[in-house]
Amino acid sequence: MNNSPASDPQFRAHYIASPAQIRDAITAHAGRDPQVIVDFGCGRGIKTLALANAYPGAEVVGLDITRAFQHARDFANAHLEGVWPANLRYEQIEPGDRLAERLQADVIFSWSVLEHVDREILPEVVADMGAALTPGGLVISQIAPLYYSPFGSHLRAFLDEPWAHLMLPHHHLRARVLAAGEGKPEGPGSAEWMFARYEELNRITAPELFGYFRAAGLSSLQEDMRKVALEPPEPLRLSHDPLALRVYELFSVHAAPAPSRRGGLLGRLRR
Ligand SMILES: C[S@@+](CC[C@H](N)C(=O)[O-])C[C@H]1O[C@@H](n2cnc3c(N)ncnc32)[C@H](O)[C@@H]1O
Repeated sequence: MNNSPASDPQFRAHYIASPAQIRDAITAHAGRDPQVIVDFGCGRGIKTLALANAYPGAEVVGLDITRAFQHARDFANAHLEGVWPANLRYEQIEPGDRLAERLQADVIFSWSVLEHVDREILPEVVADMGAALTPGGLVISQIAPLYYSPFGSHLRAFLDEPWAHLMLPHHHLRARVLAAGEGKPEGPGSAEWMFARYEELNRITAPELFGYFRAAGLSSLQEDMRKVALEPPEPLRLSHDPLALRVYELFSVHAAPAPSRRGGLLGRLRR
């Protein structure tokens, strides 16, 4: 049996693959190495840890409304021989706490988070991200699966039928999911826990999210939408936006206005 970290799917997904995508976006779009990087909605904080190791010269901060980031130490012990970067910290926040009152960041990334933020505060949360950026700073955002996509319920582990959450009456969906979870461990990740998370999803779509970024004064540098090849069932094609039914992943980079060139020139003339 191969026990190397690289053979562990969690390690590959959270410590290698998605941090690499974030690093590529920073390299492509940031003018310089970031000084402050925020992982908004860091969860267990593995990506935060990866970014802290990738950018030892930056302050890297993981923020979440839960304390799941406490697991990051166990992850470092299991996979990184316990080595812990000095430039990393985690903080628990309340939903809607103002980032801009806490820090100014060159990069704020959120991975599989914005679809979970309460709809009532979502526009303010995105606006606050913009306010917490340094000039030219970046918001890097990933969402998958999007709500209207085939497995946008996040319930595929219990019900492997595309668009079941849009086709079945709510109580049938719940009964099928709970039946599939019978006999399995309770708590986070269980059928009941996942169904409660499903009910909280804010159902955001790509145009809505990109609209919030624009309203926050951020410009679009990259807006990638990955689509499924599956054909949605006819009743859904008649009642839903065809693009929303197919887009299952968003990956976007938006930027705060860059420092004014005039200011820079005047600064240079004064010297
Ligand atoms: C699916 S998890 C993703 C965690 C992590 N980003 C990852 O990639 O593994 C969604 C996370 O968003 C967090 N979250 C939800 N609403 C939030 C909010 N208003 N502010 C900060 N974090 C929030 C949840 O607590 C949860 O840890």
